[in-house]
Amino acid sequence: MEQWEFVRRREELMEMIGAGNIALVPTAPQVQRNRDISYPYRPDSYFYYLTGFCEPEALAVFVPGRAQGEYLLFCRESDPAAESWHGRRAGLDKARSQYGADDAFPIEDMDDIIPGLLENRKQLYYAMGAYPVFDTLVLEWMQTLRQRTRSGIRPPLETINLDHILNELRLFKSPNELACLNTAIDISIKGHQRAMRYCRPGIMEYELAAEIQYECLKHGAHNAYPPIVGGGQNACILHYLDNDRMLKSGDLVLVDAGAEYQYYAADICRTYPVNGRFTPAQAQLYNLVLDTQKAAIREIKPGNHWDDPHQAAVRTMTQGLLDLGLLSGSFEQCIEKKSYQRFFMHRTGHWLGIDVHDVGDYKFENNVWRLLETGMTLTVEPGIYIAADDGSVPDYWRGIGIRIEDDILITATGADVLSAALPREIIEIEALMQSR
Ligand code: GLY
Ligand code: MN
Ligand code: MN
Repeated sequence: MEQWEFVRRREELMEMIGAGNIALVPTAPQVQRNRDISYPYRPDSYFYYLTGFCEPEALAVFVPGRAQGEYLLFCRESDPAAESWHGRRAGLDKARSQYGADDAFPIEDMDDIIPGLLENRKQLYYAMGAYPVFDTLVLEWMQTLRQRTRSGIRPPLETINLDHILNELRLFKSPNELACLNTAIDISIKGHQRAMRYCRPGIMEYELAAEIQYECLKHGAHNAYPPIVGGGQNACILHYLDNDRMLKSGDLVLVDAGAEYQYYAADICRTYPVNGRFTPAQAQLYNLVLDTQKAAIREIKPGNHWDDPHQAAVRTMTQGLLDLGLLSGSFEQCIEKKSYQRFFMHRTGHWLGIDVHDVGDYKFENNVWRLLETGMTLTVEPGIYIAADDGSVPDYWRGIGIRIEDDILITATGADVLSAALPREIIEIEALMQSR
């Protein structure tokens, strides 16, 4: 990501905060995996959004209008010995020259410097609750200032939740962000195609995960979330992560996996037959999910509200389930009773961005769904899941789970399906699976 993109974001934030106020944005802590091994480090998404700085132990401070510097970065100092063991650090100099901080300080100096920055400000913008250890520090700094009121010093008068402001900025994607997201999607498509070509009876679920992971690593990306590879009835476990069963001929396999490229996440799901050919019964359910997804995507356009695609999905799904005899009664009754939830129990999508379930309000305070606008990105992912032990359903449909998920940009005219290059139609999937 270009540095000027971060500059632009900081300028927008400063404008929203206003002079006389201050914002504190800590990054995520390093998390221990076991003994002396850490999980691969990932910065906090808000912190990354504003700084582009990817090291742990860092804090960004924004003080609009402060003559000596408005953007301060606290981070680790350069330390050749530590760096030869654990990796490079930007240090204070690069925090300024490369990451654009007006000034940079050692992270150890927070306690000495931050109370002075907080004193007598009107508003403190801070996302309380995300990092309890950092919350404690903020409370201690406030306490320090409270004890100095007789010297004319006081803590900020108000604390305002910073998340909410940043969520609104993050919801609308710039051309630079869309370039990263599109790369993440293209890598994910390569991975899914590779998995589809590799798929055959007798392999393990984790082998398909490995095919996708190969394309991610090969192109400088990681999994945006733990991949879900569920063969047969495992596809009915919505957050199935074991991925350790053998794939059987005659079953479908559900593969939900996406790459994260430069901190932007793709989120794509396909469901296909392990042996490369859908049975007629599988095809009936598959085409209902596909029709449902298409109906939802048709409702994505500026001016419609967030719930319109979901309601379109619910209508198409309900009618399809009635037609197949999986639901009974009148269409209106089924909609009113939400009968479809027995087979389609999740919502139709979510915002997509730096976080796979990205930030942004879905409803306004008055309980009204927000309107869709150009530049927002989201997923559309209806599904059908029929329990293996559901004796009320014909046996050829039992234990089938199907989800189809694509990534979408809202444009002036409607929906741009960014992941459209990955086959969705039965005929295209079967052709791809034969081409190995
Ligand atoms: N992969 C998680 C989801 O589809 O929301
Ligand atoms: Mn999703
Ligand atoms: Mn998904």
